[in-house]
Amino acid sequence: MADHLILVTGSAGFLGSHLCDALLAEGHQVLGVDNLATGSLANLAHLKTEPRFRFEQLDICTPFDLGRVEYVFNFASPASPVDYMRLGIETLRVGSAGTLNTLEVAKRYNAGYLHASTSECYGDPEVHPQVESYWGNVNPIGPRSVYDEAKRFSEAAVSAYHRYHAVNTHLVRIFNTYGPRLQANDGRVISNLMMQALRGEPMTIYGDGSQTRSFCYCSDLIAGIVLLSKSKEHAPVNIGNPTEWTILECAKEIQSLLGATSEIVFKPLPQDDPLRRRPDISRAQRLLGWAPKVSLREGLALSLDYFKACVAAEQPQA
Ligand SMILES: NC(=O)c1ccc[n+]([C@@H]2O[C@H](COP(=O)([O-])OP(=O)(O)OC[C@H]3O[C@@H](n4cnc5c(N)ncnc54)[C@H](O)[C@@H]3O)[C@@H](O)[C@H]2O)c1
Repeated sequence: MADHLILVTGSAGFLGSHLCDALLAEGHQVLGVDNLATGSLANLAHLKTEPRFRFEQLDICTPFDLGRVEYVFNFASPASPVDYMRLGIETLRVGSAGTLNTLEVAKRYNAGYLHASTSECYGDPEVHPQVESYWGNVNPIGPRSVYDEAKRFSEAAVSAYHRYHAVNTHLVRIFNTYGPRLQANDGRVISNLMMQALRGEPMTIYGDGSQTRSFCYCSDLIAGIVLLSKSKEHAPVNIGNPTEWTILECAKEIQSLLGATSEIVFKPLPQDDPLRRRPDISRAQRLLGWAPKVSLREGLALSLDYFKACVAAEQPQA
């Protein structure tokens, strides 16, 4: 499909901007849209002189038609707990009306479609590691439900457009991903701990640090997503790094990389914070021949310059 026009929603965000880079590198033309609710044009600044890239500022919750596209990647949604709890109603809206509007675009132009879903669909999982066939343990009315249930509605909508309208849809369940352009102050584990260590502040751990996460470096994730977009698979596919870390081990890995001596402080665990998170990636391995390549240590090292620049930008100008 090289040379095709591809629509990326959420293109000014962390993952959307990396996806635009990957699609441009494959030779496509990319139309990025974003309402800049949580993203930043700084993430697209390097594409200013790229003739194959165009950006439109718009809210996908309003129906839109920007002309024929061959493929739609729907990445628009607040994604970090800090953002989606601040923008709760907007998150519900983009995961419902927004997703339906992007599906209409795909249907109208007979375009392929890939939706960025999330491991949060599994809630606080009783099945470990999480397999795609597990339906999840989500609190439908808790503070995280604005995100979790919006994403679950989106999965239902995507599946329905495949079932009723034969749209060539794909669903990726993304597990925690990090790398350059991750918002520096959005409360996600890696950005929080990195920024605190680089500032020489105490590093905060919520709970006793024994809860686990698996962290995928952004280039690994995007490679898996591009492969999925070209596949014939319509059911959800987990993409993430299955190496499981306790939050405390992750903090220590960051300390060791930076040679940091920041003290670690423990704060109460937020409500409904999942205790365990680890993808079973055997479907992605079997269907796509995909597996992550970048270790946490390597990924943290690749992200270091970015986080250093974020800390430097916080300093008052002399
Ligand atoms: N980063 C992760 O670890 C992770 C994990 C699971 C799922 N995801 C999903 O991947 C996608 C991208 O996440 P991210 O980490 O890049 O977050 P991000 O906040 O950096 O990017 C999301 C982008 O969507 C835009 N947006 C939000 N509402 C919009 C609307 N109504 N119209 C147009 N644009 C809108 C934001 O401005 C932002 O640029 C999200 O759908 C998220 O749920 C991310």
